[in-house]
Amino acid sequence: MVDLSLTDEQQDLRELAHNFAMKEMRPVAWDYDRDATWPQEIIEKAWEVGLMNTHISEEYGGPALDYLSGCLIEEELGWGCSGIGTSILANGLAMTPVLLGGSEEIKKRYLGMLTEEPKLASFCLTEPDAGSDVSGMKTNAVKMGDKWVLNGSKCFITNGSHANWFSVYAKTDRDAGHKGISCFVVPRDADGVAVDKKEDKLGQRASDTATISFNDVEIPQDHLLGEENKGFKLAMMTLDRTRPGVSAQAVGIARAAMEFATDYAKERVQFGVPIAMHQAIQFMIADMATKIEAGRLLVWQSASLLDQGKRNTLAASHAKRFAADSAMEVAVDAVQVYGGYGFIKEYPVEKLMRDAKIMQLYEGTSQIQRLVIAREVLMPRQVSEPAAATA
Ligand code: CAA
Repeated sequence: MVDLSLTDEQQDLRELAHNFAMKEMRPVAWDYDRDATWPQEIIEKAWEVGLMNTHISEEYGGPALDYLSGCLIEEELGWGCSGIGTSILANGLAMTPVLLGGSEEIKKRYLGMLTEEPKLASFCLTEPDAGSDVSGMKTNAVKMGDKWVLNGSKCFITNGSHANWFSVYAKTDRDAGHKGISCFVVPRDADGVAVDKKEDKLGQRASDTATISFNDVEIPQDHLLGEENKGFKLAMMTLDRTRPGVSAQAVGIARAAMEFATDYAKERVQFGVPIAMHQAIQFMIADMATKIEAGRLLVWQSASLLDQGKRNTLAASHAKRFAADSAMEVAVDAVQVYGGYGFIKEYPVEKLMRDAKIMQLYEGTSQIQRLVIAREVLMPRQVSEPAAATA
């Protein structure tokens, strides 16, 4: 039997996140989107009520929540405003390589920094010429005595302008392709770290996206995460753990779009009846509802596998591909239900359509998810990598 019921704790957590989204995010979401406002106060409140850093274990000050619980939170924050939600949740991506590969001392220092105060961290993988093709990165770290010296530039870095530290991937063996990449923790205040550019974006405008450069940045040896030249796998294992949560945010966007569309369809009268009475509209709403339910099931499956200590690469890509594409389709259809009003900024759904687009791009495009799915289906790997849940 497949049991999809939530525990009392999980239901309470979902309610907490929903109420937070309703009270703290929804009232400002459209203004923050218009003005691209950085949601510092909301981040601090989210930290205070325990909605951040959810997978850090108690010894480093975190709540050690399971991945499914994390997804419940992420869906609600995505429902509230995925731009503000991404700002609140991006620590999860940056901290995962530390959880997986950091020494005891590094975990205490850098995870502790996030749990002691509402501080932020960013994940630095993407480069101008290395997006989907991770192993094409040019940022490099050269060993000099007991230090590494880091040079390069990373783009599209969520929370980059506000982060207190970064998990940074760099080539440590230029000629070894994916087998020559390592990952390091880099403090923001290290000499040579600079925020170069803050992006002006189509959607998720309340989130910060920046270019970060590293110029002769000296990194102590113990800031290497995991083994030297094993950073590519660390990045992939990180994304396996974070894609369920991003997919949950996409489900949240789709849910918000469907709710606005159904409310509007019940009010808007054309041809003498609310448009919800027309089958053309009903079928759009029906498809929205199915996509949301199916997306959530894939999210829960991909998170549950992690919680059972099982490999979830395929499930995470199914969830990300389907939930992201569904969020986009549902938001576009919500605009269609609103008709011409849907195109006007005074109405809520055009923001959701713009926000949904990034879901098909970040943490692996929908095409990369299909690539992973096709490889897993055509050439299933026999390995069963343990999924270290929390540190
Ligand atoms: N877990 C563990 N190991 C894995 C793995 C996984 N999920 N996936 C691959 N590997 C291993 C493989 O087994 C292989 O190991 P061996 O060297 O022992 O053979 C090795 O890694 C190389 O794998 P591939 O041959 O599959 O590598 P590839 O170069 O073909 O790339 C890819 C695969 C799926 C395309 C990968 O590069 C990828 O996921 N790209 C997308 C990157 C991405 O998601 N970027 C988003 C950045 S973060 C972000 O967007 C957030 C933000 O802040 C904006």
